Amino acid sequence: MPKICCIGAGYVGGPTMAMIAKKCPEVQVTVVDINADRIAAWQSDDLPIYEPGLDEVVKAALGRNLFFSTDVDQAIMDADIVFVSVNTPTKTFGEGAGCASDLQYWELCARRIKEVSTSDKIIVEKSTLPVRTAEAMERVLHSGDNPIHFEVLSNPEFLAEGTAVADLENPDRVLIGGHETPSGQKALQTLVEVYAQWIPRDRILTTNLWSAELSKLTANAFLAQRVSSINAISALCEATEADVGEVAHAIGTDSRIGSKFLKASIGFGGSCFKKDILNLVYLCETYGLQEPADYWRQVVTMNDYQETRFVKTMLHNMFNTIANKRIAVLGFAFKADTGDTRESPAIRVCRELASEHATIIVSDPEAMENAKLDMPELADQIEFEEDPYKAAKDAHAVAVLTDWKLYKELDFQRIYDSMQKPAFLFDGRNMLDHNALFEMGFEVYSIGKGLKTHLK
Ligand code: NAD
Ligand code: UGA
Repeated sequence: MPKICCIGAGYVGGPTMAMIAKKCPEVQVTVVDINADRIAAWQSDDLPIYEPGLDEVVKAALGRNLFFSTDVDQAIMDADIVFVSVNTPTKTFGEGAGCASDLQYWELCARRIKEVSTSDKIIVEKSTLPVRTAEAMERVLHSGDNPIHFEVLSNPEFLAEGTAVADLENPDRVLIGGHETPSGQKALQTLVEVYAQWIPRDRILTTNLWSAELSKLTANAFLAQRVSSINAISALCEATEADVGEVAHAIGTDSRIGSKFLKASIGFGGSCFKKDILNLVYLCETYGLQEPADYWRQVVTMNDYQETRFVKTMLHNMFNTIANKRIAVLGFAFKADTGDTRESPAIRVCRELASEHATIIVSDPEAMENAKLDMPELADQIEFEEDPYKAAKDAHAVAVLTDWKLYKELDFQRIYDSMQKPAFLFDGRNMLDHNALFEMGFEVYSIGKGLKTHLK
């Protein structure tokens, strides 16, 4: 079996490689990163990311055939297959700023691989990349008079945070794209054999390189589009007394539509949806396809609208002033079961509440450290309190921004009793029992259902 190296020990590199190592004991897997703290954390009892079930997967293989290291060059040199799983954020400068992918980390890896390799290698794009990136990478890898052959494959990752272990253990599909040449097909089969150790072969899809690259961006765009679509309907529900939960259920039972990804919310967050859609927009524009670009951009515009609409709703219902009011924000992670706060809707909500001079108390079971780093400019308006009961004490309003299961189980009577009156509860995730909360005395707002009020 081949030796594997993975460059990038983040949310994708760490879990995916741990799963390969666990499932393929004969494959040696070394994950490398320039971030020494991250590498040390992967080798400790306190993993650098919170992901249910991940500890057991890492423990099963760590030191056996799974290694973490900062020695990038050695790991590349030793490997037959090099996965590249570095970050590909949205570019913040120059041409395409705010839209295009920043490929500098990817290209640095390609240059490093070329520099230190002494044998032929398969290079696997694990990061999410613009379609046709492999072409540019091949040019970098094969530049000069290097005699070594690099075969580039695209193997995009579809795991979702919070369910990464289950997604990796039992994926809907694994996608591998390669060139339709003999060497491309040989490389592709080598990678297929690795996944086939635990994934049924009919779930391992093989395509050409460009289809694999584009399928990843397309999958994220379609998923995000569903969230924006139901969120658009949620605004109309509030205007018409329709209930977005009932509408979602009614349409989701149509097997052509399906029930998943129809939960109205304050908006989608996470490091990828927005970044990948904007990347798709940029690609369309690059190819002169303005209408497709405008179509996809609207998914992000709708998401921005939904986040801002939530804050406006809070403000308007709280008598158009929240200055000096205490607002407890329950949940800061972009979704439940992760400590990740990248592009979390909570960031915008807190910033906009702060611009109205509210005092914000942020609470989250796993994301407090990241939350503290996200809003340094608001330090004098934000307090951090892990205990949700303490966070809500003396608050004028509670806003639930992450769908943590524990928030369903809170003693809301206790919370209500400790709050200022009238006590507002804004459910940004439509996850609580709104009738029961209303009966307790709360003023209850939920997305796509509007406000239930005792006030005349
Ligand atoms: P991340 O920021 O958590 O991890 C990337 C890691 O790469 C960092 O630890 C960084 O230090 C390291 N790195 C950067 N340049 C390096 C270099 N030259 N040499 C060695 N290490 C280097 O990012 P992530 O969330 O793991 O995402 C990685 C890629 O996977 C992105 O393209 C993303 O779009 C894609 N993706 C992410 C998810 C997810 O759930 N987070 C899911 C599917 C796909
Ligand atoms: C998403 C995709 O689901 C993964 O397949 C993909 O690999 C990954 O992006 C990526 O490329 O990074 P992730 O962002 O981790 O995964 O989480 P999701 O479960 O997709 O949720 C994204 C956001 O949409 C969250 O803020 C979530 O709360 C929100 N959401 C999701 C809704 O508001 N409503 C829904 O019905 C579903």
